Amino acid sequence: MKEMILILDFGGQYNQLIARRIRENNVYCEIHNYNEKVFELIKEKSPHGIILTGGPQSVYDDQSIQCDKKLFSLGIPILGICYGAQAMAYSLGGRVEMAGVGEYGKADLTLLADSKLFHGIKRNSVVWMSHSDKITMAPDNFKATAATKDCQIAAFEKAGKNLYAVQFHPEVVHTVEGKKILSNFVDICKCSRDWKMDSFIEETVAQLKNKIGDKKALCALSGGVDSSVASVLLSKAIGKNLTCVFVDHGLLRKNEADEVENIFKHYDLNFIRVNAGERFLNALEGVTDPERKRKIIGEEFIRVFESEAKKIGAVDFLVQGTIYPDVIESGLGKSAVIKSHHNVGGLPDYVDFKEIVEPLRLLFKDEVREVGRQLGLPENLISRQPFPGPGLGIRIIGEVTAEKIKIVQEADFIYRSEIAKAQIENLGQYFAALTNMKSVGVMGDGRTYDYAIALRAVMTSDFMTAEAAPIPFEILNKVANRIVNEVKGVNRVLYDCTSKPPATIEFE
Ligand code: XMP
Repeated sequence: MKEMILILDFGGQYNQLIARRIRENNVYCEIHNYNEKVFELIKEKSPHGIILTGGPQSVYDDQSIQCDKKLFSLGIPILGICYGAQAMAYSLGGRVEMAGVGEYGKADLTLLADSKLFHGIKRNSVVWMSHSDKITMAPDNFKATAATKDCQIAAFEKAGKNLYAVQFHPEVVHTVEGKKILSNFVDICKCSRDWKMDSFIEETVAQLKNKIGDKKALCALSGGVDSSVASVLLSKAIGKNLTCVFVDHGLLRKNEADEVENIFKHYDLNFIRVNAGERFLNALEGVTDPERKRKIIGEEFIRVFESEAKKIGAVDFLVQGTIYPDVIESGLGKSAVIKSHHNVGGLPDYVDFKEIVEPLRLLFKDEVREVGRQLGLPENLISRQPFPGPGLGIRIIGEVTAEKIKIVQEADFIYRSEIAKAQIENLGQYFAALTNMKSVGVMGDGRTYDYAIALRAVMTSDFMTAEAAPIPFEILNKVANRIVNEVKGVNRVLYDCTSKPPATIEFE
């Protein structure tokens, strides 16, 4: 049985972060909704510890999820966070009150007593609060261990039973000692901190062998890190019974299709590259609406993939590079709308596969990257920035034409190589887009009337919000000079200084 911490979700906005922080301690964890099947789940998972997350409700709401008090007598260490702390207090007979004023943002925490949870932590530190109800009395035989100005019981515990609770959010970076607090909880759970990627590879390959046996599997390979890592894992497990289909829709970055092919040529797997650029261009002819473009690209993609699957025949398994944030966002009921809008076509409904295999569904992006490294994938593929499924189709504003694709590919290539040369770090994503604007310029002694390229670079950790990156002006200037000199059809280069929101990262 794998050593793990179970995170029981009450709908908190930071639950992914809690899981991240636990895994940073080399401890495996999973997030599951708290519901009536909780005891079955605990039996199945045998966790070393349980974390109860925050959530938007009040223990007094009719609809609120209450904690069964039996949970606290299982002998498993428990940490309640925010709503999780209130639910713990309430179910064990403490007092939770609707607060007149909520406490949101940073607060100064003072420790009141020694606690294993706060071992090695300064007596005063800043924590992140986000709650309206508050705990005004800890349950019997529990002691308050920390307070803020507005929250007399900011932490409480019954150390003898390994029950701990904090009103603040240790998983958020603004809680200065948060990492240490969660690491202390990992110690309280007596976890051996041995969750590593090499053990993940071994275990997963064995499971895949077992599951797929000598049947065939098909993978839609985009050249992005997730589907690449999924493919290589699968090929380790089933060798030539895996076929990877790489659809080159003609909307990739300069040289990208060849780069992907070159990488996968060296693996012992069946790799099929379908050059479908013309087909996509035809389908996009005359289309200017961004959502329509997305839909067309998604649909064409599926059709190409389907026809390849038919050619291979008798394929039982479809491999997808789904990762944990996708599972959490769609499975636990949040952010799903934004995601499905972004995904290019859901493959499984269209093709007759018996089962979908998602070997990375419990990993975060950085863990997937680590697996990729251990599998020997090249660093330029592993640390690649995200690239949208519809590709340059949504970086060309208005109608997509062969000429415009060429322009944006060349401009983007120059921009990316200058950024690489300048070794600018911390960029979440950066690219060139082709505006639909033509303007007047002068080159040599002649008038030009050409397109403007827009450069974008953002800093972001979650891609839901982003800040425009302050690229040094000399670099922007150099990129602009190179683009107008080297790319035919462009006479102006603009830099996008807008954050998200109100803009988005992509232009369409
Ligand atoms: P936005 O433009 O919404 O993008 O700020 C956020 C992140 O999602 C990527 N993106 C997409 N990815 N299909 C995808 O696979 C899409 O249709 C799509 N649209 C945006 C974008 O590149 C950024 O990383």
